[in-house]
Amino acid sequence: MNIPHIAIISSSIRTGRNSHRVALFFKKYLEENKLATVEMLDLNEYRFPLFEERLRLQKNPTEAAADFAEKINNADGIIIVSPEYNGGYPASLKNVIDLLSKEWYHKPVAISTVSEGSFGGTQVITSLQFTLWKMSAWTVPAMFPVPEVTKIFDEKGNPDTSRLDEKRVSNFINELFWCIEAKSRMKKPE
Ligand SMILES: Cc1cc2nc3c(=O)[nH]c(=O)nc-3n(C[C@H](O)[C@H](O)[C@H](O)COP(=O)(O)O)c2cc1C
Repeated sequence: MNIPHIAIISSSIRTGRNSHRVALFFKKYLEENKLATVEMLDLNEYRFPLFEERLRLQKNPTEAAADFAEKINNADGIIIVSPEYNGGYPASLKNVIDLLSKEWYHKPVAISTVSEGSFGGTQVITSLQFTLWKMSAWTVPAMFPVPEVTKIFDEKGNPDTSRLDEKRVSNFINELFWCIEAKSRMKKPE
């Protein structure tokens, strides 16, 4: 298998958002180490309207929605970067999860949660994993919580290497890649 193609969903559309720093970090990390080709799916750029119906049932889907679906479909694996808002993940993220259907099926998904406080947004994990499980996505058994995000990453996603544990990064990515590889083997003819 060639290097995988990864789509990173940057979920926060909040003015002055910080979790996007983590999305930028993963993009750079994967590209600079030549581990994957990467597509950034920035929900702040898409600015989808509030969910009304699943894409497959829409009569006149927008180009943006079709584009998003195609990019999820074409990705070998997904990294979701999600902030924690009041113990959950943001509405912007639920908005796009509900929009799609078959695109999530057996899709390897790794979750990175982000907070400005000291717990790294970990309360997001169970609700987000449950929703993705309901969609038959393949959530990988690894997490990458980022506490005190503005102390670890600058606005361009460059890490303070004294605060970032590189081993945690590679473990997280390797779990995702393992699932991608396992899925690709299942597809091979006998
Ligand atoms: C509406 C709202 C609720 C939040 N709730 C939590 C929370 O429950 N736990 C937490 O650690 N941080 C919470 N935060 C802080 C976020 O972790 C912080 O904004 C962080 O930078 C990630 O979100 P961002 O990408 O939108 O900046 C909240 C922020 C907002 C705007």
